[in-house]
Order: sequence, then C-alpha cells, then structure tokens
Amino acid sequence: MLSNLTPQPADKIIELMKLFREDPRTAKVDLGVGVYKDATGHTPVMRAVKAAEKQLWEQETTKTYVALAGDPAFADAMRQLILGDAAPAARVAGAATPGGTGAVHMAFELAKMAKPDVRVRVSSPTWPNHLSILRHRGIAFAEYRYFHEATRGVDFDAMMADLADVGPGDLVLLHGCCHNPTGANLTEAQWGAVADLLERTGAVPMIDMAYQGFGDGLDADAYGTRLLAARLPEVLIAASCSKNFGVYRERTGLLLAIAADQATRDIAQGSMAHLNRQNFSFPPDHGARLVTMILNDPALRADWQAELEEVRLGMLGLRQSLADELRQRTNSDRFDFVARHRGMFSRLGATPEQVMAMRASHGIYMVGDSRINIAGLNATTVPILAEAIVKAGV
Ligand code: LMR
Repeated sequence: MLSNLTPQPADKIIELMKLFREDPRTAKVDLGVGVYKDATGHTPVMRAVKAAEKQLWEQETTKTYVALAGDPAFADAMRQLILGDAAPAARVAGAATPGGTGAVHMAFELAKMAKPDVRVRVSSPTWPNHLSILRHRGIAFAEYRYFHEATRGVDFDAMMADLADVGPGDLVLLHGCCHNPTGANLTEAQWGAVADLLERTGAVPMIDMAYQGFGDGLDADAYGTRLLAARLPEVLIAASCSKNFGVYRERTGLLLAIAADQATRDIAQGSMAHLNRQNFSFPPDHGARLVTMILNDPALRADWQAELEEVRLGMLGLRQSLADELRQRTNSDRFDFVARHRGMFSRLGATPEQVMAMRASHGIYMVGDSRINIAGLNATTVPILAEAIVKAGV
C-alpha cells in the first residue's frame, strides 16, 4: 500500500526554515517563516502568557477532555476580541481548532458540508497553504487579482473586476489585515466597497485573521472584519492566536461562523463540533486556556496589549528604517512601500534569481516570491539587507 505513495512537494516556507538552519555561515539573516523575533533574534514567550501559565500550573486540577468545540469561554473571549459588538453573540458559532491553519481547514470543510459544490475565490497572491489545503480537500477555487506589482499596493480595480461575477454561496477569502505575503491592505473605503459587492451578490466572505494587532492596532486591524460582520448575514472567520499571543507551538485557533439567525447558528455550532470530531476529536486546550485567561483578566490583558503594541511599533520602526536606508542607497523613493505596508510581511519585487543572489552573497533568506518577514530584521541587519537588495539589482 505505502509503495503507492508519491513524494509530495515541500512547503516552500517550511523548507526555507530547514535551509536556513543548515547554512553553516554565522552571518545569515532569516526573513522566512512568519515568526516574530526580537532584536536579538529570539522569539520570546510573552510576559502575560508566562504569567498565565504559572497561574494555570497552580490552579489546574485535571486534564480531562473539555468539549468538541473547545471551551465556550475561549470562543466568547475571542469573538469579542475580533468582532467587538459588530454582530450579536446569538448569531455567532465558535469552535476551537488546532491553530489558525486548523481554522482555515475547518472553514473550508464547513463550507463544503453546507454547499458541496462551493467555489472559493482567493487573492493572487495568497498564503500558499490556502491553495494547498483547497487542493487537498478537492474544493474548486479561482484567483482574483490583488497586488499591483508596479505600485506594490492593492490593485483594487482589478480585484473588484475579478470578483464581479461571484454568486450566492461563493466563498471569497479575504485577509482580515496584514496581507500575507504582500503587506498591502485594503483601505476602509475599499472594505466598504467589498461589503457592497458581497451584499449585492450574496457571496460569503471567509476572513483569515492571523495577525490582529500586528498592523495598525487590535481594533484598527479588525475594521474590515467588523464591517462585514455588521452588514452581512453570513461570515466565516478563521483566527489564529499563534502570532499575537506568540503561542505558535500550542496550536491555538478558532473558527467563527456568523449565521443569519440563531436557529441557523445553532446548527452551524453543532456542525462545527461534529467536524472537529471527525478530523481530530477535541481541539488542543492549553493555548486556548491561556488566551482566555489573558483576555478575561484585566491585569494580564493590559500587559499583553502593552507587549503586543511594543512588537507592532518595533516592526513599524524596522519598516521605516529599511525604507530610509533604501531611499538613501538608491537615491529614489522606489522602496517607500515598505513603510506603507503593514504586518510582518512585504513583498519586495525581486525575481527568484535575485532572491537566490541575496542568499548567496549575504546569507539572506526570504521566500522565493521575495516576501520578507520584517520581524526577522534588526538595526544591524537592516543595512545588510538594503546593501543586498541594491547589489542584486532589485
Ligand atoms: C507564514 O506565512 O510564514 C506563517 O503563516 C507560518 C506558516 O505556517 O506558513
């Protein structure tokens, strides 16, 4: 049986982590996988997470199963973090999942269960694993244009033109904030136009919310999601706590499904629990419990928000210094987009050959499409990256 298996393509982002580790050079810069790193290159456990873990260790008396959809307190705390009061709680189903990727997977499964011939629209480009999961699940998808290569901003006219023919029950995958891999985001007015289009056509948004708090702040980053939640009858949201709580390996995510009425919400809630059971049974609890404790305890929450804000401002500072450095070295404003982008990523616009040249000459590791993780930089490596970009002729 196993001899029928054929080799699977390596995930480009995960493969890059391995290549970086294996590079024997000491002077090398990891701008690959989307993991936050401080100025020393370390990914710290956030202060509030450490404090909550201590409390949990002292207070937790059992490790027995919780519930197929996880602890409702987690879903409720996360619903409030993401949606505020944009949609009544009675219309929102929520289920914990193994990480944000688990939530993406479960969102596709739920959509397919509700509409076996569902078609998904995804931005071009998008996080490669979106496409990979869709292929794996045998779900039809088509891309809509999103990124304008010349301006390095959103090609909104093209996006709207490509989405003009969506119909009722089509799923439109949107990045809630901090678009991965480009760093280019919709403006508030553009979110409004997207809401108009979805309202008019009956297509359902599926929002991937993996970086809330990394762009313009916790509330500002949820602007588009809240707008759609307030205006549309149905919205799916796949949320990750990996980045904004720094709990990557705990696999902490959540699927929210906003339904048109409470009766439909109740059926969606049961369906999500059922799908969890079929896929992995109970979702991981440890990370979700820490997140719930932090969000529900004023002191822990204040400390978490303060640290998250330090992280966000640090990334903005790095964006500005890279843009300044490149302005000075190229005597042009060609790279000012780096300061305008938001979140962990920017797509630089280098060719695959230039990406490889930067790896060879300066030990800089970025994804093959020239996506850089801004958080992988520090004051010392910003000039090194700028030098490599100029030398490679980007
Ligand atoms: C990324 O895009 O680098 C992150 O979302 C991590 C991952 O799993 O790919």
